[in-house]
Amino acid sequence: MEIISVINYKGGVGKTTITANLAAELGFRGKRVLCIDLDPQASLTFSFYSVDEWQRNFEKNRTIKNWYDAFIDKDTDLDLSSLISTPGRVNTGMSGKVDLICSHLALINVDLELATRLVGGTERDLRNNFLRVYSRLKQGIEHLEEDAYDFVFIDCPPNFNIVTKNSIIASDYVLIPTKPDYLSTLGIEQLKQHLKELVNTYNKHTRNSNSDDWAEAKPEILGVIFTMISVRNANPIQALQQYIEQVEVPCFDTFIRENKTIYSSAPEYGVPVVLKRVSGQTYENVQEELESLTTELLEKLGYV
Ligand SMILES: Nc1ncnc2c1ncn2[C@@H]1O[C@H](COP(=O)(O)OP(=O)(O)O)[C@@H](O)[C@H]1O
Ligand SMILES: [Mg+2]
Repeated sequence: MEIISVINYKGGVGKTTITANLAAELGFRGKRVLCIDLDPQASLTFSFYSVDEWQRNFEKNRTIKNWYDAFIDKDTDLDLSSLISTPGRVNTGMSGKVDLICSHLALINVDLELATRLVGGTERDLRNNFLRVYSRLKQGIEHLEEDAYDFVFIDCPPNFNIVTKNSIIASDYVLIPTKPDYLSTLGIEQLKQHLKELVNTYNKHTRNSNSDDWAEAKPEILGVIFTMISVRNANPIQALQQYIEQVEVPCFDTFIRENKTIYSSAPEYGVPVVLKRVSGQTYENVQEELESLTTELLEKLGYV
């Protein structure tokens, strides 16, 4: 099971779009995929379910917020698998599957509550609290049925708060969608630094705890994915070169072009762009990119 965080401090860079399309294409190719929506904006959730469906079936007690609430309020463990659902429209005619754990708009309050869990008396208390809080999601995923999924994608919020750090600690890999501009690429350097600091601190605590309960976290940055590329530019690759050279992080060869018309309407129908049955050259080009991004991901992970 490959656990992959999709992360960037910035909002609106394509994290959710990339997550939904990679998951859908992998499902189409026969893989079993679980998506976890960790963003209180719940864009991934609403890419697969209507607001109405979410309110009826999930809002009250089947979102990732309820799972954190159980830990915060009652110190109990809700089984993550009780939150999993299989959205109907995306799964139609698919040989694998795409499951989802929904988010909740009030997930935004969970970070503050978790922060209060970090305080403690002795050094040992502090260390144990740190490990307990930051490994929350990792443990939840580890308790899922073994071999239930090939891939778990975690769509992160645009910040580096405790819930986001939960995702990093739980992950084997990190994907960083970004727009190709100066400020965005500066942000990647910061992100890389913060990832390193988090992992170093976490691993230092696991070593100092002298306990087999904690394993070291080893998330690897799989690559930066450049999204929303303008194709009016005759040679986008050349224009991108300066930004690619700025980031000292591996980058995907596949770029995702900008197409507002195609991308903005997709979530409304519950089927990501890559799986839509639509004819037309522009659509084909956009879908080919998403397919080749998926193939490149599989290559990087050693599947092909
Ligand atoms: N390649 C693209 N071209 C044009 N618009 C896009 C593209 N990818 C995403 N979008 C649109 O941009 C907005 C932000 O994308 P989203 O994936 O939600 O970003 P994030 O999750 O990083 O906030 C959405 O309205 C989405 O439909
Ligand atoms: Mg998003």
